[in-house]
Amino acid sequence: MAIERTLSIIKPDGVRRNLVGKIIARFEEAGLVPVAVRRHWMSRREAEGFYAVHKERGFFAELTQYMSSGPVVLMVLEGESAIAKNREVMGATDPAKAAEGTLRKLYAQSIGENTVHGSDAPETAKTEIAYWFRETEIAR
Ligand code: CMP
Repeated sequence: MAIERTLSIIKPDGVRRNLVGKIIARFEEAGLVPVAVRRHWMSRREAEGFYAVHKERGFFAELTQYMSSGPVVLMVLEGESAIAKNREVMGATDPAKAAEGTLRKLYAQSIGENTVHGSDAPETAKTEIAYWFRETEIAR
């Protein structure tokens, strides 16, 4: 196992419902350290760039409209197997399929408004972190 970094986003529905502290606490309890944290209201264009891999999907417009509908919290989480651990804490993308006790089971409202985002692999983690953070903004 290795120390990894992954990108986490608390989505507009999580921020709007004041769940930031509760969500970060879950990550910390799982051994994930938020080594960079920034609240940010992304533009539609930033959301489109971030989710560019999904641009041919039917939900792309809905997704980018939603992600730019209010502030989010962008984070870099660091720890042992951080990518997989973050995904474990989040649960399945669709809250109806998320395991008991996961963030999405607890808080997500739908597959679109699913409270948190996390990178799915080492390459995407690297790209996604670089999309939002400079190396000098990450403190470990
Ligand atoms: P996320 O991990 O942020 O990555 C892509 C997002 O697209 C995903 O979480 C969901 O919120 C969203 N998404 C995936 N499938 C659908 C869908 N069928 N309808 C709406 N949004 C979706």
